[in-house]
Amino acid sequence: MNVVKAKHLGFCFGVKQAVDTARRTVSKCGAKGIPVYACGSIIHNAHVTRSLEAEGLIVVSDIGQVPDGSVIIGRSHGEPLSFYDRATAKSLVVVDTICPYVQRIHRLVRDVKRAGDIAVIVGDRRHPEVVGIRDRSGASVAIVDSREGALAVANRACEENKSLFVVVQTTFDRGKFRDLEEIFRDLREGRLRRADGDGAAFFRRVDVTIHNTICNATENRQGSARSLAGSVDAMLIVGDRASSNTRKLFEIAESGCARTYFIEDINDLPLKDIQLCNTIGITAGASTPERIIKEVITRMSEFKNENNESNPMHEFMDEIDKALRLPRNGDIVTGEVIQVTDKDVIVNIGCKKDGVIPRNEVVLEAEQRLPDLFKEGDEVQAKVLKNDDGDGNILLSKKRVVISEHWEDINAARDDKGTLEVTVIKEVNGGVIASFKEINGFIPMSQLSDRYVEKADEFIGQTLTVKVMRVEQKRNKVVFSHKAVLNEERQKRMMEIWDTIHVGDVIDGKVMRFTEYGAFVDIGGIDGLLHISEISWGKLRHPSEILSLDQEIKVKVLSMNKEKEKISLGYKQNLPEPWSVIHDKFTVGQIVTGKAVQVKEYGVFVELEPGLDGLVHISEIAFKRVNNISDEIEVGQTITAKILEIDQERKRISLSIKETLDRTSLEGGVLKDATEVPSGKMKDALHEAAEKVGEALENIGDRVGDITESIADKAGEIVESIAEKAEDILDAIHPPKASADEDAAGEATPETVAEAPATETVEAPAADTDAEAPATETVE
Ligand code: F3S
Repeated sequence: MNVVKAKHLGFCFGVKQAVDTARRTVSKCGAKGIPVYACGSIIHNAHVTRSLEAEGLIVVSDIGQVPDGSVIIGRSHGEPLSFYDRATAKSLVVVDTICPYVQRIHRLVRDVKRAGDIAVIVGDRRHPEVVGIRDRSGASVAIVDSREGALAVANRACEENKSLFVVVQTTFDRGKFRDLEEIFRDLREGRLRRADGDGAAFFRRVDVTIHNTICNATENRQGSARSLAGSVDAMLIVGDRASSNTRKLFEIAESGCARTYFIEDINDLPLKDIQLCNTIGITAGASTPERIIKEVITRMSEFKNENNESNPMHEFMDEIDKALRLPRNGDIVTGEVIQVTDKDVIVNIGCKKDGVIPRNEVVLEAEQRLPDLFKEGDEVQAKVLKNDDGDGNILLSKKRVVISEHWEDINAARDDKGTLEVTVIKEVNGGVIASFKEINGFIPMSQLSDRYVEKADEFIGQTLTVKVMRVEQKRNKVVFSHKAVLNEERQKRMMEIWDTIHVGDVIDGKVMRFTEYGAFVDIGGIDGLLHISEISWGKLRHPSEILSLDQEIKVKVLSMNKEKEKISLGYKQNLPEPWSVIHDKFTVGQIVTGKAVQVKEYGVFVELEPGLDGLVHISEIAFKRVNNISDEIEVGQTITAKILEIDQERKRISLSIKETLDRTSLEGGVLKDATEVPSGKMKDALHEAAEKVGEALENIGDRVGDITESIADKAGEIVESIAEKAEDILDAIHPPKASADEDAAGEATPETVAEAPATETVEAPAADTDAEAPATETVE
């Protein structure tokens, strides 16, 4: 037995605030010895009234019974105007607990009174709330609670030519009001007939204003009661019989559930009547306190436990009930196989009809027959396709159950982020179709692998582990991703690797692929980058100069970036840095061979081994003068040179090519290739030629020496002759004087000196002219 509580039940906010206000007033006044009165029950519930009386509230039936000057509580559903008049006359202090919803109706009908129209109050004319509303709306009032009453008001409005202004008691039945509302709408539209079945007579059109003033609390409670009553075997309505809203709940529930019981508390529980019911609904009026509801629910739970312990009758009734009930289409039923043929399987599903599973509603492997799968007495689950297949059987499908289970697996994999095994069937536009058992799904090309896939041929027929990306079961659609699995695995491996390797470790790797800037090396499931500069100590143009694909190598972990998931590796670190061991391999004076790797204006760099370049200075290239190195040496050429100096600290090696050549070489230049280095006879011939050249030069030197000597002698004679000639000329111009003149000349006056020119041109006398002498001579 299940006990189900209505969604909305018990105290509404209006009732709650009325009870709380009354309780506070009684408490405060009681403390000062002031009695508090109420004219009738504050709310319609005897339990609450009794409880308030116990606290000090005095309930009287007429205000006349209240002593002058006392305190009196005004009730939540409002009081008639006469109440306030009499209270004033008796000098009573009124503590009003009227609900705001009721107050709102008072305001609405007050306006009607001013307009002089007819106020129609839909409600119970005896209910204090309706009485209070009527009082406030003056003389033109009509109170209706039935179709007849509504038609009578319509007639009156036509006759008196008045408009109607409709309000509703807050706790009135919502469904009932809808019927009456329709009448008033029809009247407003001019389509209300005067009598049922009389097609000719219509009420004339009347101006009608309708205010649905049923409060939310009432509507909610009535709505929940209505829907609950339709789904249970019995309904319990908890509340006071004097409560209008509780009575409405009862009427509503009763119309949906034949076994509806009105109970005030646990004492009224019809336990015997409901003990065979499977589901029992409970609701309560707006004036029913929570305590009473709780008591009822608790008792029902106890009863349920007692009842469930062992009740053969209950079980028997259940069986009968089940046997009579037919499953609905779409239900999954369980039954026992009672007959198997090649055509179908007959199943007893415990109701008055047998179920039939035709062959095409079973998943069969090739060549498989129904008797291979089923035998009598087997328990089988199947889905109801039709509860009558035309032959009086229930048409069942085993395949749909299986497919449903597979969809469940797919949904579970999606929700739990699990994986499934699928088989790739065929390539389609943008991807492939892959089947998970009987369900076909789609794998987009981009989700087939964690690398770029151009054609899906290689995947056809393969079983792939996939994740479920999207499911639209209603449209039979599911999208898988193999890439997501690969990524997850990679991530997992990555995490393991991060935890196990450290910067500086030397680990095994396998060269997977090359790029222009290096090689990717698999280090146990993930790829690390081996940059081209970390492959060799020397310069590389491409990693393939040193490595090959699939080569297994040892690499050193240079750096790890966990955030970017990048690992940098080194390969050259497996060998010592060449400069650190240079003295182990090279010494000054050693003749070495290397390759010209760079030609500069000042020299050429020769690679002796990767990472170890030496410089041949331009002056060390050849004995002859070299102006342009490129004319002599080209990059890539093999060079033989002698080590002149090794500076380990500055990482410099000085080399000389010419030191490897013979000084006496006629060529004196650079040999184009090491293979051109002369040897044997050639060398001897060159030596001989060189000696001859030496002798020739010596002879030339001797001759030059003779000529130079002869020229020098001649020149000396000429100079001497000129000097003698010049002396003669001077003597002719200035004959030699006595020694006194010589002294006088030594004391010459300044004037004399001034007159003497610095140079003078002397014309030789014609008589004395020597034929060989020059015509003029300049003498300083
Ligand atoms: Fe007020 Fe509605 Fe309750 S009118 S008293 S809230 S039932």
